[in-house]
Amino acid sequence: MSAAAEGRFSPAGAISGELAVPGDKSISHRAVMIASLCDGPVAVEGFGASADTMATVGAMRALGVEIEGPHDGALRITGVGLRGLRAPAERIDVENAGTLMRLLPGVLAGQIGEFVLDGDASIRRRPMGRIADPLGQMGVALETTDGCPPVRMHVSGAVTPITYRLPVASAQVKSCVLLAGLFADRGVTIVEEPVATRDHTERMLRQAGAPVDRRPGRVAVSPVASLHLDEVQVPGDFSSAAPFVVAATIVNGSGLTLRGVGINPTRTGLLTVMERMGARVGIFNRRLAGAEPVADIEVRPAELIATEVEPELVPALIDELPLVALLACFAHGVTVIRGAGELRVKESDRIATVAEALNAVGGHVEALEDGFRVRGVPTRLRGGSVDAAGDHRVAMLGAVAGVCSQHGVDVRGCDALGVSFPDFSERLAGVTA
Ligand code: S3P
Repeated sequence: MSAAAEGRFSPAGAISGELAVPGDKSISHRAVMIASLCDGPVAVEGFGASADTMATVGAMRALGVEIEGPHDGALRITGVGLRGLRAPAERIDVENAGTLMRLLPGVLAGQIGEFVLDGDASIRRRPMGRIADPLGQMGVALETTDGCPPVRMHVSGAVTPITYRLPVASAQVKSCVLLAGLFADRGVTIVEEPVATRDHTERMLRQAGAPVDRRPGRVAVSPVASLHLDEVQVPGDFSSAAPFVVAATIVNGSGLTLRGVGINPTRTGLLTVMERMGARVGIFNRRLAGAEPVADIEVRPAELIATEVEPELVPALIDELPLVALLACFAHGVTVIRGAGELRVKESDRIATVAEALNAVGGHVEALEDGFRVRGVPTRLRGGSVDAAGDHRVAMLGAVAGVCSQHGVDVRGCDALGVSFPDFSERLAGVTA
């Protein structure tokens, strides 16, 4: 699709059938980075290939790691060992991938040389002070450009152990510090209160043999001589399943099953909120895929009531909050979401872009400084036209709003879908009657 790609999403009679969503984006990024630090070959299964995760593959290749694939979700990565990455002559291009931009400096902390990381126009607006601060305390200098990318690191491999209290509930910051902690002689401890963020890094590092000590409110990693992983299984991405779960809840006559979706409790806050709203979502066939819990999800339509999303719940549904605002448009009453100021520094200012998108199709959404107030009108949204603002989650929101609307929605900038879910539109069409 071209940069101005437009998609039309027509009202659906039902959302039904079965679907498997792409591999989890957060876990795919981590699999490529952590496998690269292992001794020897690692097989990754279920890798979710998208522009973001392929940027991570490209970055690790630029750092000297041999990576074959992806072929049908399979990658074979020949790890170079904890300190085996080579400084490339060129700058590393993270494209639109915030997770790569925030985690890779943690990996680079233990290497030797000069590294410059840059990305697209949206990445150049993402705050990096949150990474520069803890790395600075660890003796690892990361120079930003007015607090944002491009960033420059000149590193010697020396890392000082610290105890760090996370000032923002961010798994990206936590993961960066944990990865850098692998190289500190007494490791690192992170105090994470009051809310836990996604814990995929902790799970995968432990699987790779790193001593990870987890207690309520804190996590510590100690240094290790080497990492080993034979295989990483990436579950289906809950955040990619979420638009389908929401669409099948809103559109009458639906009946949808999603197979093999990751249900790590640090990610499934959407289900908690939907249950409060009266949704009918069932979780079946719970099992483990490597270090992560997965299940099948069954969705039936339901009449919804408004709810409140409290700040403590926000990290577990940070990427699904746009969809909660959409659900709230169809619920009886007024829904309030607070404590979500982090949305302002995502791929777009998601408080502004989501309110604008939903209001453009007939919603009643007030943008608050740190969230939304949504007045539900439990009939179909009118429809209209939405600007994705270069943000994949806003593009998906517009698409789901379209299938739930009276007259359909045109989404401008559908190419943004490629960031996390390149064949989203085809998959949606496949379950739309
Ligand atoms: C991510 C963490 C979240 C999330 C992002 C992916 C990760 O960001 O919004 O899409 O993979 O660690 P923050 O940790 O900065 O909130």
